[in-house]
Amino acid sequence: MPVGTIFSALQKEDIVIDGSKVETVNRQLTYAMVGGGPGAFIGDVHRSAIRLDDKANLVAGVFSSDSAKSREFGQTLHIAQDRLYDDYMQLVEQESKRPDKVDFVVIVTPNAYHYPVAKACLEHKLHVVSDKPLTVDSKQARELENLANKNGLLFGVTYTYTGYPTVKEIRSLIKKGIIGELRFVNAEYPQEWLATRSEDTDNRQAKWRTDPKLSGASNCVGDIGSHIENLVSTMTSLKIRRVSARLDVFVENRVLDDNASIMVDYEGGAKGLYWSSQIAVGSDNALRIRIYGSKGSISWFQEDPDHFQLSLLGEPTRIYSRGRDEFSQPAQKFSRLPSGHPEGLFEAFANIYKAYTDTLLKVLDKEDVDLSQADFPTVSQGADGVRFIEACVLSSRQDSAWIDL
Ligand SMILES: NC(=O)c1ccc[n+]([C@@H]2O[C@H](COP(=O)([O-])OP(=O)(O)OC[C@H]3O[C@@H](n4cnc5c(N)ncnc54)[C@H](O)[C@@H]3O)[C@@H](O)[C@H]2O)c1
Repeated sequence: MPVGTIFSALQKEDIVIDGSKVETVNRQLTYAMVGGGPGAFIGDVHRSAIRLDDKANLVAGVFSSDSAKSREFGQTLHIAQDRLYDDYMQLVEQESKRPDKVDFVVIVTPNAYHYPVAKACLEHKLHVVSDKPLTVDSKQARELENLANKNGLLFGVTYTYTGYPTVKEIRSLIKKGIIGELRFVNAEYPQEWLATRSEDTDNRQAKWRTDPKLSGASNCVGDIGSHIENLVSTMTSLKIRRVSARLDVFVENRVLDDNASIMVDYEGGAKGLYWSSQIAVGSDNALRIRIYGSKGSISWFQEDPDHFQLSLLGEPTRIYSRGRDEFSQPAQKFSRLPSGHPEGLFEAFANIYKAYTDTLLKVLDKEDVDLSQADFPTVSQGADGVRFIEACVLSSRQDSAWIDL
């Protein structure tokens, strides 16, 4: 089902904690985590971000494929012994039977495990948040989307950068037509960290990202090109019609792409050019989006996420500043600190969880929820993202032929 699905009231059992029924509204939710063990990158960012609003508490998990390591690590997170599981299937089976079962499961494993873990959760009626890319192929992605919709389960995908208030404000301005009819998007995401064979060092993130069994058919597009696709779509509401891509492998003996150039045609006639790279010496996490319309342009840079630039024809360029300049309500409500007190990646992640947990409380309270109004990336957007990656891989294999999405 597409975004816009109305969740009908769910057949949800009463919530029981310490033997008493509890109201769902405003109660603290609970969650389990799969992945994010010792030395992992993003699992700890999720946990820290969720703590910022205190709307959910981590009470169960399997943090590593090595169960001894997972249990040891789980204890450092103060999780009860009986909720530290040996593997994800045991977690899903046992949690789903508990009267105080977790409200949702967060998946922060390498890409290839997202699908089996999420599928098991959905089949056991557990709500899910998964990191991106949703899955390693689009068949799996659509299956998860259908399963979530069929079972009335809320499924969020953590495309981090959509959580910034500036991104939400840009979306709002573009919707109001401030830069006119959209013509062209130039988006780039250069990083340096795979410019050498980091996978031969003890860099575990490099090892699995360059391994097709764990990463999927693409490394660079899957890992960071996917952020461009989702962020541009969030800011502009443009729908991609077709892509022509060239995926390069610059570093010797590497199988998967470490650089990608992608031409995009959107529905309605606008065009785009995306570049993602992990061999861009000198770049840290330099995601930059420039959107050009008939009356103006907007430019946003991830390493300075509290600001963006708006240029209108015939007028001086303006710098918008989060907290200082008036943002519209959808963006303003996610601003946490006064102007000049920088917010960053943790807050962006927290904003995704704030929107997800607020919506989940409504779902648990059997309220209808219109997912087209969701202020977090949904499973449908996750599935669109996987289709984008797949189309880029296919195009590159066919000498950059245009591939419809
Ligand atoms: N949204 C973002 O901005 C963002 C940023 C970084 C990573 N990611 C995504 O997050 C995911 C994790 O990336 P990472 O960089 O944190 O990787 P990582 O290698 O640092 O961490 C992966 C963790 O998963 C654990 N794990 C592996 N297999 C498991 C299994 N079967 N059961 C339980 N745990 C298992 C590992 O032990 C490790 O702790 C990837 O899908 C990646 O694309 C997203």
